[in-house]
Amino acid sequence: MSLPAPNPWIAAITPYEPGRARLASGRTPIKLSANENPHGPSPAAIAMIRAHAHGIHRYPDGAATSLRAKIGFVHALEPDRIVCGTGSDELLQLLPLIYCRRGDSVVHVRHGFMVYPIAARRAGAEPIAAPDRDYVADVDSILAAVRADTRIVFLANPNNPTGTMISRAEVRRLHAGLRSDIILVIDQAYAEYCDAPDPDGGLELARTMPNVVVTRTFSKIYGLGGLRVGWATGPAAIVAELNRVRAPFPIASVSLAAAEAALADQEWVARCREANARERARLVAAIEALAPQGLGAVPSAANFVLMTCPETGPLAAETLKAGFEADGILVRHLPKQGLPHGLRITVGTAEENDQAIASLRRQAG
Ligand SMILES: Cc1ncc(COP(=O)(O)O)c(C=O)c1O
Repeated sequence: MSLPAPNPWIAAITPYEPGRARLASGRTPIKLSANENPHGPSPAAIAMIRAHAHGIHRYPDGAATSLRAKIGFVHALEPDRIVCGTGSDELLQLLPLIYCRRGDSVVHVRHGFMVYPIAARRAGAEPIAAPDRDYVADVDSILAAVRADTRIVFLANPNNPTGTMISRAEVRRLHAGLRSDIILVIDQAYAEYCDAPDPDGGLELARTMPNVVVTRTFSKIYGLGGLRVGWATGPAAIVAELNRVRAPFPIASVSLAAAEAALADQEWVARCREANARERARLVAAIEALAPQGLGAVPSAANFVLMTCPETGPLAAETLKAGFEADGILVRHLPKQGLPHGLRITVGTAEENDQAIASLRRQAG
Protein backbone atom coordinates (compact mmCIF):
# COMPACT_ATOMS: atom_id res chain seq x y z
CA MET A 1 0.00 0.00 0.00
CA SER A 2 1.47 3.36 -0.88
CA LEU A 3 0.93 6.31 1.44
CA PRO A 4 0.67 10.03 0.81
CA ALA A 5 4.20 11.42 0.57
CA PRO A 6 5.15 15.07 1.01
CA ASN A 7 7.31 16.78 -1.56
CA PRO A 8 10.92 16.00 -0.59
CA TRP A 9 11.79 19.72 -0.28
CA ILE A 10 8.91 20.11 2.21
CA ALA A 11 10.09 17.09 4.22
CA ALA A 12 13.53 18.77 4.44
CA ILE A 13 12.12 21.69 6.44
CA THR A 14 13.06 22.03 10.10
CA PRO A 15 9.91 23.56 11.60
CA TYR A 16 10.08 27.02 13.18
CA GLU A 17 10.52 26.92 16.92
CA PRO A 18 8.84 29.79 18.74
CA GLY A 19 10.29 31.22 21.95
CA ARG A 20 8.99 29.15 24.86
CA ALA A 21 6.05 30.61 26.72
CA ARG A 22 5.68 28.16 29.64
CA LEU A 23 7.76 27.07 32.59
CA ALA A 24 7.90 23.39 33.53
CA SER A 25 6.64 24.40 37.01
CA GLY A 26 3.46 25.96 35.57
CA ARG A 27 4.36 29.28 37.27
CA THR A 28 3.70 32.46 35.28
CA PRO A 29 7.04 33.18 33.64
CA ILE A 30 8.90 36.36 32.91
CA LYS A 31 8.94 35.83 29.17
CA LEU A 32 12.13 37.19 27.62
CA SER A 33 12.20 34.63 24.82
CA ALA A 34 10.24 36.06 21.88
CA ASN A 35 11.30 39.70 21.41
CA GLU A 36 7.84 41.02 22.28
CA ASN A 37 7.16 44.50 23.60
CA PRO A 38 6.88 43.96 27.38
CA HIS A 39 4.72 47.08 27.70
CA GLY A 40 2.12 45.72 25.28
CA PRO A 41 0.28 47.82 22.69
CA SER A 42 -0.98 51.36 22.96
CA PRO A 43 -4.04 51.59 25.24
CA ALA A 44 -5.82 53.04 22.19
CA ALA A 45 -5.31 49.72 20.37
CA ILE A 46 -6.81 47.78 23.29
CA ALA A 47 -9.80 50.15 23.39
CA MET A 48 -10.25 49.66 19.65
CA ILE A 49 -10.24 45.87 20.00
CA ARG A 50 -13.02 46.10 22.59
CA ALA A 51 -15.02 48.54 20.49
CA HIS A 52 -14.66 46.38 17.43
CA ALA A 53 -16.15 43.23 18.91
CA HIS A 54 -19.61 44.00 17.53
CA GLY A 55 -18.47 43.81 13.91
CA ILE A 56 -16.82 40.42 13.81
CA HIS A 57 -19.58 38.59 11.93
CA ARG A 58 -18.42 40.50 8.80
CA TYR A 59 -15.42 39.55 6.71
CA PRO A 60 -12.55 42.01 6.99
CA ASP A 61 -11.27 44.19 4.15
CA GLY A 62 -8.83 41.73 2.57
CA ALA A 63 -6.95 44.59 0.91
CA ALA A 64 -6.46 46.41 4.25
CA THR A 65 -7.27 49.66 2.43
CA SER A 66 -7.60 51.91 5.45
CA LEU A 67 -4.54 50.51 7.24
CA ARG A 68 -2.42 50.86 4.09
CA ALA A 69 -3.48 54.50 3.76
CA LYS A 70 -2.35 55.16 7.33
CA ILE A 71 0.95 53.29 6.91
CA GLY A 72 1.52 55.30 3.72
CA PHE A 73 0.90 58.53 5.61
CA VAL A 74 3.22 57.69 8.51
CA HIS A 75 6.07 56.46 6.29
CA ALA A 76 5.55 58.72 3.23
CA LEU A 77 4.84 55.74 0.98
CA GLU A 78 2.28 55.18 -1.75
CA PRO A 79 -0.52 53.03 -0.27
CA ASP A 80 -0.82 51.20 -3.60
CA ARG A 81 2.74 49.99 -3.12
CA ILE A 82 2.02 48.50 0.29
CA VAL A 83 0.64 45.01 0.88
CA CYS A 84 -0.47 43.73 4.30
CA GLY A 85 -0.17 40.15 5.48
CA THR A 86 -0.79 37.79 8.36
CA GLY A 87 2.32 39.04 10.09
CA SER A 88 5.31 39.96 7.96
CA ASP A 89 5.90 36.23 8.05
CA GLU A 90 3.20 35.62 5.42
CA LEU A 91 4.90 38.03 3.03
CA LEU A 92 8.40 36.67 3.69
CA GLN A 93 7.06 33.20 2.90
CA LEU A 94 5.32 34.25 -0.31
CA LEU A 95 8.30 35.90 -1.99
CA PRO A 96 10.26 32.67 -2.69
CA LEU A 97 7.04 30.94 -3.78
CA ILE A 98 6.54 33.67 -6.37
CA TYR A 99 10.12 34.16 -7.56
CA CYS A 100 12.00 30.87 -7.12
CA ARG A 101 11.90 27.81 -9.32
CA ARG A 102 12.80 24.45 -7.84
CA GLY A 103 16.56 24.24 -7.38
CA ASP A 104 17.07 28.03 -7.34
CA SER A 105 18.77 29.57 -4.33
CA VAL A 106 18.02 32.13 -1.64
CA VAL A 107 20.82 33.78 0.35
CA HIS A 108 20.57 34.80 4.00
CA VAL A 109 23.02 35.60 6.78
CA ARG A 110 24.38 32.66 8.78
CA HIS A 111 23.10 33.69 12.21
CA GLY A 112 19.79 34.94 10.88
CA PHE A 113 16.05 34.64 11.18
CA MET A 114 14.88 31.03 11.03
CA VAL A 115 11.98 31.79 8.70
CA TYR A 116 14.23 32.50 5.67
CA PRO A 117 15.50 28.94 5.13
CA ILE A 118 11.98 27.64 5.76
CA ALA A 119 10.55 30.05 3.18
CA ALA A 120 13.21 29.03 0.66
CA ARG A 121 12.60 25.32 1.15
CA ARG A 122 8.83 25.69 0.91
CA ALA A 123 9.41 26.94 -2.61
CA GLY A 124 11.81 24.10 -3.42
CA ALA A 125 14.74 26.52 -3.36
CA GLU A 126 18.06 26.01 -1.60
CA PRO A 127 18.85 28.34 1.30
CA ILE A 128 22.48 29.48 1.34
CA ALA A 129 23.86 30.84 4.61
CA ALA A 130 26.51 33.55 4.12
CA PRO A 131 29.00 33.68 7.00
CA ASP A 132 28.81 36.81 9.15
CA ARG A 133 31.67 38.59 10.87
CA ASP A 134 31.52 39.02 14.65
CA TYR A 135 27.76 38.42 14.38
CA VAL A 136 27.36 41.28 11.88
CA ALA A 137 26.12 40.71 8.32
CA ASP A 138 29.10 40.83 5.97
CA VAL A 139 28.21 42.37 2.60
CA ASP A 140 31.20 40.85 0.81
CA SER A 141 30.33 37.41 2.13
CA ILE A 142 26.68 37.79 1.05
CA LEU A 143 27.75 38.89 -2.43
CA ALA A 144 30.20 35.99 -2.64
CA ALA A 145 27.41 33.54 -1.73
CA VAL A 146 25.18 34.70 -4.59
CA ARG A 147 24.96 32.22 -7.48
CA ALA A 148 23.61 32.40 -11.00
CA ASP A 149 20.39 30.80 -9.71
CA THR A 150 19.94 33.14 -6.71
CA ARG A 151 16.58 34.91 -6.81
CA ILE A 152 16.31 36.48 -3.35
CA VAL A 153 18.65 37.85 -0.68
CA PHE A 154 17.09 38.22 2.80
CA LEU A 155 18.64 40.74 5.18
CA ALA A 156 17.13 41.41 8.60
CA ASN A 157 18.38 44.79 9.76
CA PRO A 158 18.57 44.90 12.76
CA ASN A 159 19.18 41.17 12.64
CA ASN A 160 17.55 38.50 14.77
CA PRO A 161 19.02 36.74 16.81
CA THR A 162 22.20 38.85 16.92
CA GLY A 163 20.66 42.35 17.25
CA THR A 164 23.37 43.79 15.02
CA MET A 165 22.78 46.24 12.22
CA ILE A 166 24.61 47.31 9.09
CA SER A 167 24.75 50.92 7.95
CA ARG A 168 22.86 52.68 5.20
CA ALA A 169 26.08 52.75 3.14
CA GLU A 170 26.57 48.99 3.54
CA VAL A 171 22.95 48.26 2.57
CA ARG A 172 23.45 50.42 -0.54
CA ARG A 173 26.68 48.59 -1.32
CA LEU A 174 24.89 45.26 -0.97
CA HIS A 175 22.14 46.38 -3.32
CA ALA A 176 24.62 47.79 -5.83
CA GLY A 177 26.48 44.46 -5.88
CA LEU A 178 23.40 42.37 -6.69
CA ARG A 179 22.11 41.57 -10.18
CA SER A 180 18.96 43.50 -10.99
CA ASP A 181 16.92 40.27 -11.22
CA ILE A 182 17.63 39.42 -7.57
CA ILE A 183 15.19 40.77 -5.00
CA LEU A 184 16.81 42.27 -1.90
CA VAL A 185 14.36 41.81 0.95
CA ILE A 186 15.20 44.11 3.86
CA ASP A 187 13.33 42.86 6.91
CA GLN A 188 12.89 45.84 9.21
CA ALA A 189 10.94 44.03 11.93
CA TYR A 190 12.92 45.89 14.61
CA ALA A 191 13.47 49.21 12.80
CA GLU A 192 11.19 51.15 15.15
CA TYR A 193 13.64 50.46 17.96
CA CYS A 194 16.17 52.67 16.14
CA ASP A 195 16.03 56.45 16.39
CA ALA A 196 15.73 57.26 12.67
CA PRO A 197 12.45 56.50 10.86
CA ASP A 198 14.22 54.64 8.03
CA PRO A 199 17.42 53.72 9.86
CA ASP A 200 19.18 51.80 7.07
CA GLY A 201 17.62 53.57 4.09
CA GLY A 202 15.66 50.43 3.17
CA LEU A 203 12.37 52.27 2.65
CA GLU A 204 14.12 54.75 0.37
CA LEU A 205 15.52 51.86 -1.71
CA ALA A 206 12.12 50.13 -1.82
CA ARG A 207 10.62 53.38 -3.10
CA THR A 208 13.19 53.95 -5.82
CA MET A 209 14.62 50.60 -6.93
CA PRO A 210 12.91 47.91 -9.05
CA ASN A 211 14.19 45.01 -6.91
CA VAL A 212 14.01 46.02 -3.25
CA VAL A 213 11.26 45.01 -0.82
CA VAL A 214 11.03 46.11 2.82
CA THR A 215 8.95 44.23 5.36
CA ARG A 216 7.71 45.58 8.69
CA THR A 217 5.55 44.23 11.48
CA PHE A 218 3.10 45.23 14.18
CA SER A 219 4.39 42.33 16.31
CA LYS A 220 7.37 44.07 17.87
CA ILE A 221 7.32 47.68 19.09
CA TYR A 222 3.59 47.99 18.35
CA GLY A 223 2.95 45.15 20.78
CA LEU A 224 0.45 43.26 18.61
CA GLY A 225 2.24 39.93 18.05
CA GLY A 226 -0.91 38.03 18.97
CA LEU A 227 -2.96 39.75 16.26
CA ARG A 228 -0.66 38.93 13.30
CA VAL A 229 -0.27 42.07 11.21
CA GLY A 230 2.67 42.86 8.94
CA TRP A 231 3.28 44.71 5.71
CA ALA A 232 5.66 45.01 2.81
CA THR A 233 6.45 47.78 0.37
CA GLY A 234 8.37 47.72 -2.88
CA PRO A 235 8.02 48.13 -6.62
CA ALA A 236 4.45 48.05 -7.96
CA ALA A 237 5.20 44.90 -9.97
CA ILE A 238 6.31 42.91 -6.93
CA VAL A 239 3.45 44.22 -4.78
CA ALA A 240 1.04 43.11 -7.54
CA GLU A 241 2.43 39.56 -7.39
CA LEU A 242 2.13 39.48 -3.60
CA ASN A 243 -1.48 40.62 -3.93
CA ARG A 244 -2.13 37.88 -6.48
CA VAL A 245 -1.19 35.08 -4.10
CA ARG A 246 -1.78 36.42 -0.58
CA ALA A 247 -4.65 34.98 1.45
CA PRO A 248 -7.96 36.61 0.45
CA PHE A 249 -8.56 37.84 4.02
CA PRO A 250 -5.12 37.75 5.59
CA ILE A 251 -5.84 40.02 8.56
CA ALA A 252 -8.77 39.75 10.97
CA SER A 253 -10.95 42.85 11.23
CA VAL A 254 -10.11 43.30 14.91
CA SER A 255 -6.41 43.12 14.06
CA LEU A 256 -6.79 45.73 11.31
CA ALA A 257 -8.58 48.10 13.67
CA ALA A 258 -6.01 47.59 16.43
CA ALA A 259 -3.09 48.12 14.06
CA GLU A 260 -4.58 51.41 12.86
CA ALA A 261 -5.00 52.62 16.43
CA ALA A 262 -1.48 51.49 17.37
CA LEU A 263 -0.02 53.28 14.37
CA ALA A 264 -1.80 56.50 15.31
CA ASP A 265 -0.23 56.49 18.79
CA GLN A 266 3.36 57.34 17.90
CA GLU A 267 3.83 58.83 21.35
CA TRP A 268 3.46 55.32 22.81
CA VAL A 269 5.93 53.99 20.25
CA ALA A 270 8.46 56.69 21.19
CA ARG A 271 8.04 55.91 24.90
CA CYS A 272 8.61 52.20 24.26
CA ARG A 273 11.68 52.98 22.13
CA GLU A 274 13.18 55.15 24.89
CA ALA A 275 12.40 52.60 27.61
CA ASN A 276 13.99 49.88 25.50
CA ALA A 277 17.20 51.86 24.93
CA ARG A 278 17.47 52.62 28.64
CA GLU A 279 16.79 49.08 29.78
CA ARG A 280 18.94 47.50 27.08
CA ALA A 281 21.90 49.58 28.28
CA ARG A 282 21.31 48.36 31.83
CA LEU A 283 21.13 44.73 30.71
CA VAL A 284 24.29 45.08 28.61
CA ALA A 285 26.16 46.73 31.52
CA ALA A 286 25.17 43.86 33.83
CA ILE A 287 26.40 41.30 31.29
CA GLU A 288 29.62 43.18 30.60
CA ALA A 289 30.37 43.43 34.31
CA LEU A 290 30.72 39.64 34.13
CA ALA A 291 33.25 39.74 31.29
CA PRO A 292 35.97 38.40 33.60
CA GLN A 293 33.82 35.26 33.93
CA GLY A 294 33.53 34.89 30.18
CA LEU A 295 30.21 36.62 29.39
CA GLY A 296 29.84 39.09 26.53
CA ALA A 297 27.03 41.16 24.99
CA VAL A 298 26.81 41.55 21.21
CA PRO A 299 26.04 45.23 20.43
CA SER A 300 22.29 45.42 19.77
CA ALA A 301 20.11 47.90 17.89
CA ALA A 302 16.93 45.97 18.74
CA ASN A 303 14.84 44.95 21.77
CA PHE A 304 17.00 41.98 22.70
CA VAL A 305 20.61 41.19 23.46
CA LEU A 306 22.62 38.17 22.37
CA MET A 307 24.73 37.17 25.33
CA THR A 308 27.79 35.05 24.58
CA CYS A 309 28.75 32.51 27.22
CA PRO A 310 31.80 30.42 28.10
CA GLU A 311 31.74 26.85 26.79
CA THR A 312 31.76 25.19 30.18
CA GLY A 313 31.07 25.95 33.83
CA PRO A 314 28.08 27.50 35.61
CA LEU A 315 27.79 30.28 33.02
CA ALA A 316 27.67 27.99 29.96
CA ALA A 317 24.57 28.84 27.90
CA GLU A 318 22.60 25.69 28.63
CA THR A 319 23.30 25.82 32.37
CA LEU A 320 22.55 29.53 32.54
CA LYS A 321 19.28 29.01 30.69
CA ALA A 322 18.25 26.37 33.22
CA GLY A 323 19.26 28.72 36.05
CA PHE A 324 17.10 31.50 34.57
CA GLU A 325 14.21 29.07 34.33
CA ALA A 326 14.63 28.08 37.95
CA ASP A 327 14.16 31.79 38.69
CA GLY A 328 11.02 31.91 36.53
CA ILE A 329 12.67 33.58 33.52
CA LEU A 330 12.46 32.30 29.94
CA VAL A 331 15.28 33.23 27.54
CA ARG A 332 16.23 31.82 24.17
CA HIS A 333 19.01 29.32 23.55
CA LEU A 334 19.70 28.89 19.84
CA PRO A 335 21.99 25.90 19.24
CA LYS A 336 20.13 25.06 16.02
CA GLN A 337 21.11 28.44 14.64
CA GLY A 338 24.78 27.77 15.23
CA LEU A 339 24.80 29.58 18.57
CA PRO A 340 25.26 26.86 21.23
CA HIS A 341 27.20 29.41 23.30
CA GLY A 342 24.59 32.18 22.98
CA LEU A 343 21.48 33.18 24.89
CA ARG A 344 19.15 35.75 23.43
CA ILE A 345 17.46 37.83 26.09
CA THR A 346 14.56 40.12 25.21
CA VAL A 347 14.66 43.49 26.97
CA GLY A 348 11.79 43.41 29.46
CA THR A 349 10.24 46.02 31.73
CA ALA A 350 12.50 47.58 34.40
CA GLU A 351 11.10 45.12 36.97
CA GLU A 352 11.59 42.12 34.69
CA ASN A 353 15.14 43.19 33.91
CA ASP A 354 15.86 43.66 37.63
CA GLN A 355 14.92 40.02 38.10
CA ALA A 356 16.91 38.84 35.08
CA ILE A 357 19.99 40.75 36.28
CA ALA A 358 19.57 39.41 39.82
CA SER A 359 19.33 35.87 38.43
CA LEU A 360 22.45 36.40 36.32
CA ARG A 361 24.41 37.71 39.32
CA ARG A 362 23.18 34.88 41.52
CA GLN A 363 24.35 32.35 38.95
CA ALA A 364 27.70 34.07 38.53
CA GLY A 365 28.15 33.59 42.29
C1 LIG B 1 13.67 39.41 11.83
C2 LIG B 1 12.21 39.10 11.98
N1 LIG B 1 11.42 39.24 10.92
C3 LIG B 1 10.11 38.95 10.99
C4 LIG B 1 9.54 38.50 12.16
C5 LIG B 1 8.13 38.02 12.13
O1 LIG B 1 7.24 38.96 12.43
P1 LIG B 1 5.69 38.75 12.27
O2 LIG B 1 5.16 38.57 13.64
O3 LIG B 1 5.27 40.03 11.63
O4 LIG B 1 5.40 37.58 11.38
C6 LIG B 1 10.34 38.33 13.29
C7 LIG B 1 9.75 37.79 14.52
O5 LIG B 1 10.38 37.32 15.41
C8 LIG B 1 11.71 38.63 13.20
O6 LIG B 1 12.52 38.46 14.23
